[in-house]
Amino acid sequence: MDLKGKKALVMGVANNYSIAYGISRALVDSGAELILSYASPALLKRVLPLAEELGAKHCIECDVSKDYSIRELFSQVAKLWDSVDIIVHSIAYAPKDELNGAFHECSRNGFLTAMDISVYSFIATLKEAKPLLHPGSTALTLTYYGGEKVVPHYGVMGVAKAALEASVRYLAHSLGSDNIRVNAISAGPIKTLSSAVIGGIGQMQKRIEKTAPLARNISLEDIAKTALYLLSDYSSGVTGETIYVDAGINIMAY
Ligand SMILES: NC(=O)c1ccc[n+]([C@@H]2O[C@H](COP(=O)([O-])OP(=O)(O)OC[C@H]3O[C@@H](n4cnc5c(N)ncnc54)[C@H](O)[C@@H]3O)[C@@H](O)[C@H]2O)c1
Repeated sequence: MDLKGKKALVMGVANNYSIAYGISRALVDSGAELILSYASPALLKRVLPLAEELGAKHCIECDVSKDYSIRELFSQVAKLWDSVDIIVHSIAYAPKDELNGAFHECSRNGFLTAMDISVYSFIATLKEAKPLLHPGSTALTLTYYGGEKVVPHYGVMGVAKAALEASVRYLAHSLGSDNIRVNAISAGPIKTLSSAVIGGIGQMQKRIEKTAPLARNISLEDIAKTALYLLSDYSSGVTGETIYVDAGINIMAY
């Protein structure tokens, strides 16, 4: 994959287990220039060495729950680049209690937080990014099967992922006339900082090894390779799609 000279903004690296890190590595290895954004000052000591290792041009703080922070991100990006080819949104959050409690106990605040950070932030990002995007630019977000079927312990995040996947379709439609493509990857479970708070992920992975068509779990590299396809011209006719990278588990009835 040759992405030489492409300018990629990747949002959501927390550590080297992050899906955003795997995608960043693949983008850089394919020749793309990289800017990373991270959520809060507390993450900087972990993200900065990764940004250096990846040769990122810049590493910019952005709390996606704040409009001004997203605006500031793109004003800083605009000082470094005159356009952006690739945006990766690899961000989600819900309060832990909302994930492991009974879904009907979900609080208003927990619901709104999950929707705000895991869904609206993608829309808000593309809204602020728009002046820097051009025909051929692409955006990608990350979702999970819990947005389609009930996955125990996923709770409000499943509802957020359903809304995120619908947002991908609406964003693809509203940006399509500018030839800006928007897609999602529905990844199988892998161990990261975020997924560690979801109960039963280890058991889920064991079941996948036994029942998935590929009889294994997926890796960061599996996700990154599909991301390269969706973020490159190889997928020039693909938009509004959610593509599974899950070793095929979604096709199984049980
Ligand atoms: N790990 C899995 O099994 C899995 C499976 C399918 C989809 N996903 C999705 O992949 C994406 C990345 O998650 P991950 O598993 O790599 O975990 P991760 O914890 O490495 O990444 C989540 C990122 O979201 C960021 N974030 C949270 N609140 C934020 C805020 N207010 N502002 C800016 N950033 C914020 C965190 O700082 C972190 O960098 C998420 O959307 C997640 O739902 C993960």
